[in-house]
Amino acid sequence: MTSKPLPTRHIVSINDLSNRDIETIFEIAQAYLDELPDPQFSYRIGRSTHVASNFILASLFYEPSTRTRLSFESAMLRLGGQTITSADPATSSAAKGESLADSVRVIANYADLMVIRHPRDGAARLAADYSPIPVINGGDGSHEHPTQTLCDLFTLKKKNRHLKNLKIAISGDLRGSRTIHSFVYALARFGANIMPMPARGMGLPAHVDRRLREEFGCKIVTASKAESDDAPIDALYVTPEEPHQPSLFSAAEINLDAALTEKKVDAVYVTRFQKERWADKDQPYPRIDKKFLNAPKYSGASVLHPLPRVGELDASLDTDIRAIYFQQAAYGVPVRMALISLLLGLHKGKSLHKFEGGFAKQSLPIYDQPRSVGMHCPNKNCIVHEPMESQYVRNRFFIVRTDAGESCKLRCGYCESDVEKFVVAHKKNKWFSKDRGMLLRPDEQHLRELIVFADEADAREAGFHFRRNFTNPLSPVRERLKSRS
Ligand code: NCD
Repeated sequence: MTSKPLPTRHIVSINDLSNRDIETIFEIAQAYLDELPDPQFSYRIGRSTHVASNFILASLFYEPSTRTRLSFESAMLRLGGQTITSADPATSSAAKGESLADSVRVIANYADLMVIRHPRDGAARLAADYSPIPVINGGDGSHEHPTQTLCDLFTLKKKNRHLKNLKIAISGDLRGSRTIHSFVYALARFGANIMPMPARGMGLPAHVDRRLREEFGCKIVTASKAESDDAPIDALYVTPEEPHQPSLFSAAEINLDAALTEKKVDAVYVTRFQKERWADKDQPYPRIDKKFLNAPKYSGASVLHPLPRVGELDASLDTDIRAIYFQQAAYGVPVRMALISLLLGLHKGKSLHKFEGGFAKQSLPIYDQPRSVGMHCPNKNCIVHEPMESQYVRNRFFIVRTDAGESCKLRCGYCESDVEKFVVAHKKNKWFSKDRGMLLRPDEQHLRELIVFADEADAREAGFHFRRNFTNPLSPVRERLKSRS
């Protein structure tokens, strides 16, 4: 008798897991730590089990990795499973020019789930589109690294027992670090407050900042003055009391300077300069050391780092009781054991449900055209620009309402960066308009008739002419005005 197959769950973004899913993963990770202890260190897995003895994990790494790949493989081996690895693009079919979409479909025949790392933003989403087995994102460009966030949250939770109302400073390259992007979404969802301390010019990407405010309900409060020259602290994302509700307070009610400076910091999360993602490799960068942590507000702050570190976190801190980054790396094994075993359906009565409870992801309408039609994602590092993938990607964007539902922006279906400037053309009528509201008409048939161009010049070059005064028939405000006149 064959049992009903599990629905395939891909973990591309931390937002593919509900808060309840994350709690379940932590419960199981703790159970593995308790059942398979290392006699010397409470944060290490010291023995193996056989629960996954019939399963194979494939690791497909197109970018350097130590922790992520080895802790995934260790996790699978500790579960009694087997691993197969392609860790060097130079010795895999990628060197012959094979697309990711093809590699994934082939490897899916050899394993039961796969973890993938890739230098392009959105590569894991493309892999998931083509994979019949679960794909876990082990880091895609500067987009996301959801399983690192699971380790980070688990570490914070073990230390503080809860995440709500913690004040977490994040230091360094907040633009290029994928670990930061997954981490801040999760912090906001669990009600922690986020204090960015970016290196100069390396603040959170605009789309991450907007999502924190617009979708996760954070209020951003800014200080009247920078706190220190080394690590200017000029803002705090304050998560509402109830993360699932719109914010219950207004920024004006918060004493900004007090919020920034008075409350003690619970953790400092340090990241390295992601030099592989920047053209200018020689930029000033903050360094976290004993002197920095001597400030009274950091007296009880744990220090976390996804590692590797390359000078931004002083080694003299290693013996400081606040330094918990090696524990954080050790937790990679139980946390990934929990995730793998859940994805494989090895826990009776426990599984990962798509956004059941927790922080529900909006189901957004999708604009979807072949790659040859209209605008591509403007993020140059997005997987849609990878020549080897050109036949396998589409111009696919989520339509996100803005301006009280009157207008919209687009969010790339792969790398999730936002596009605010574009024009909309009508395929059959051969005209284009600047009225983005056209994308908000609800029926799919209508959406299929529309093409988005980056600007007027591109629309004209494709043979469309400008149409002024287009009226969106479904625009509620316009409807009301019309009925009054
Ligand atoms: C991180 C990554 O690859 O994004 N490493 C990791 O997985 N622990 C952090 C980094 O490379 O800076």
